[in-house]
Amino acid sequence: MRNPPCILIADDNEMNLDILATRLATHGYEILKAMDGEVALALTQNQHPDLVLLDVMMPKMDGLEVCRRIKQDPSLPFIPVIIVTAKTDSRDIISGLEAGGDEYLTKPVDQAALVARVQSMLKHKMLYDKTEEQAKQLEVQAALLAEKNEELTIQLIQETKLAEIARLLGDIGHDIKNMMMPIITGVGLLEDELSESLHKLQSTERQAIEASQTLSREILYMVRNNAKRIQDRVKEIGDAVKGRSSPPNFSSCQISKVVVNVLETLQFYAGSNKVTLHSNNLESLPLIQADEARLFNACYNLINNAIPETPEGGSVTVTGSHDPELKTVTLSVADTGRGMQPEIRDSLFTNQVISRKVGGTGLGTKIVKDAVDAHNGSIIVETAPNVGTTFHLILPTEQV
Ligand SMILES: Nc1ncnc2c1ncn2[C@@H]1O[C@H](COP(=O)(O)OP(=O)(O)OP(=O)(O)O)[C@@H](O)[C@H]1O
Ligand SMILES: [Mg+2]
Repeated sequence: MRNPPCILIADDNEMNLDILATRLATHGYEILKAMDGEVALALTQNQHPDLVLLDVMMPKMDGLEVCRRIKQDPSLPFIPVIIVTAKTDSRDIISGLEAGGDEYLTKPVDQAALVARVQSMLKHKMLYDKTEEQAKQLEVQAALLAEKNEELTIQLIQETKLAEIARLLGDIGHDIKNMMMPIITGVGLLEDELSESLHKLQSTERQAIEASQTLSREILYMVRNNAKRIQDRVKEIGDAVKGRSSPPNFSSCQISKVVVNVLETLQFYAGSNKVTLHSNNLESLPLIQADEARLFNACYNLINNAIPETPEGGSVTVTGSHDPELKTVTLSVADTGRGMQPEIRDSLFTNQVISRKVGGTGLGTKIVKDAVDAHNGSIIVETAPNVGTTFHLILPTEQV
């Protein structure tokens, strides 16, 4: 509602119109005037007054028709209408109310009654507007709440799914870790048992038996070592799910030992692919500050990737070099393999890494990159089709 309220007075009698207008203007209202029905309707539609006083008998359109049209127009807000009639016949009053009029006054208009009705109708109008405004605000709030509710529901579903995945990963990690225990123990027992039975064997081919014994020992050693590493790795899943991902565990590390461990673990796989594994210049490297387990993982993944890419008769060589000035060591894993297509090389270490392998995840090179990053190092890849691929890991000797 406007302040001051605006009242439209419609009467074809100019004198009556002025008397009503003057009277109401003294109460501070803003006044609009119309001398026929059509003007009264047009002014109502354009100006949206807060109250309309309508004379019944008017040219062009009578007051009852104007009232009906105001009340039926859906584009208009609620506007109270007071019908002012010269007729005292109760039937005329009834038809005024049926046309939608909210109040009536009879002529000659009693000035005190006029002011009282106008004030009462404006109070109605004010309450109506306030209620409507509150309803609109509630509607907006309800829409916002519905939207928020939908967002929260989606978020809850996603969080529930994630929590379920995390729980599952934790459970699987835990079970695999425990299932590895009997393997490690069993391999130890098997080793003892094998050694005892071979000892008991009486044979002329003593040398062959001893060679077989050595090989069995090597295999068992490798299986046990690898099973232990799997166990440690799986334990990391459980820790990560519990939010306990451990920072790099730096200690003084002899790189040659780590690489020899990797080569020992992968020698049987390489052998079955007729690929030989070599190391070069590792003994001369200085001790470096490194997380041994992560360094092992990085080398393991690089050599494990290189073996299937290298044709029979080929080789994979790990070479070490030291730059005392830059205080870095470089481990280069070079194969004599097929090399990489440029699009594969460019995709390495990104989320869009391309894996050429059946069942490959593209996680191997990511693990290498993460390990190098954890050591504040860097990685360079050189590759040439049918010549081979070399991964250079450049690692600082000290961690600050
Ligand atoms: N030495 C290499 N020679 C040629 N291509 C290589 C070499 N190392 C990696 N690649 C290419 O990079 C791709 C990504 O390697 P990555 O280790 O990230 O995943 P993957 O080996 O395919 O899968 P997963 O590690 O799960 O077995 C490989 O599929 C392969 O095409
Ligand atoms: Mg791989």
